[in-house]
Amino acid sequence: MKITIVGAGAVGASCAEYIAIKNFASEVVLLDIKEGFAEGKAMDLMQTASLLNFDTKITGSTNDYSKTAGSEVAVITSGIPRKPGMTREELIGINASIVKQVSENLIKHSPDVTIIVVSNPMDTMTYLVHKTTSLPKNKIIGMGGALDSARFKYRLAEALEAPISDIDGMVIGGHSDKGMLPLTRLATRNSVKASEFLSEERLEKVAADTKVGGATLTGLLGTSAWYAPGAAVSSMVQAIVCDQKKMFPCSALLDGEYGMSDLCIGVPVILGKNGIEKIVAIDLNDAEKQKLAESAAGVQKTNGLLDL
Ligand code: 2OP
Repeated sequence: MKITIVGAGAVGASCAEYIAIKNFASEVVLLDIKEGFAEGKAMDLMQTASLLNFDTKITGSTNDYSKTAGSEVAVITSGIPRKPGMTREELIGINASIVKQVSENLIKHSPDVTIIVVSNPMDTMTYLVHKTTSLPKNKIIGMGGALDSARFKYRLAEALEAPISDIDGMVIGGHSDKGMLPLTRLATRNSVKASEFLSEERLEKVAADTKVGGATLTGLLGTSAWYAPGAAVSSMVQAIVCDQKKMFPCSALLDGEYGMSDLCIGVPVILGKNGIEKIVAIDLNDAEKQKLAESAAGVQKTNGLLDL
């Protein structure tokens, strides 16, 4: 099957590399508007094939969407990344027009495509694709929670001095520094609640460090992160094309779930061949419900900046 990644920058190229290494896709098309850039990244990646033992064919295209025709899944990473000190929401002006144009071009050549949105502000960009295309809502998915949960597990493992393979944890809510909701109450170390090992204060620090995980890296790197975002997207793509029925927190269009409607926000979903196959209802306590409602209010405020 064919997968398209729009945006051959660091996130897009990392995603292409991880998909290829996992060797579950026949073809990855990397597309960018910068002349020759995607072709160069694709060629460089293909020259790792004999070294990393994958058969996936990675090709590059300079803004020729005909090359993406018949894609089962398409990932939108295009747009500007944030700089140190910027919020994801500040990117909306430029990124909204890019994401709208890109999604229209993708659907024109792959009418049955499932789109994964990475561009920020991601929840609002995901909502934009819902509002400006005719794709069914199960085929428009925002990537944020998978990344934030990976950062949450990293911080939990650090606090617990445990291997990450022992850790489970999930982040729901908006993909924003203030809106993320790391579910510390439900986090576990090999089925034992993390709260059995860590004080409430330490768990609060884990949650706080998780929420600014992206900003922390942007401060260190001078631009947005790319390895973990690329890896998170590649796992979601694999769950869809391999019909894994895996549960991820993803930005999904809500229609009454969690008491919310007409917005995209991070909630647990089952990913399979039909994209979002189910939105999973989990029991939240009153404090968690309040935080999720506040997060939703923040997403709605950003959505209000869209020119729909
Ligand atoms: C991040 O948090 C790029 O939003 C992405 O790193």
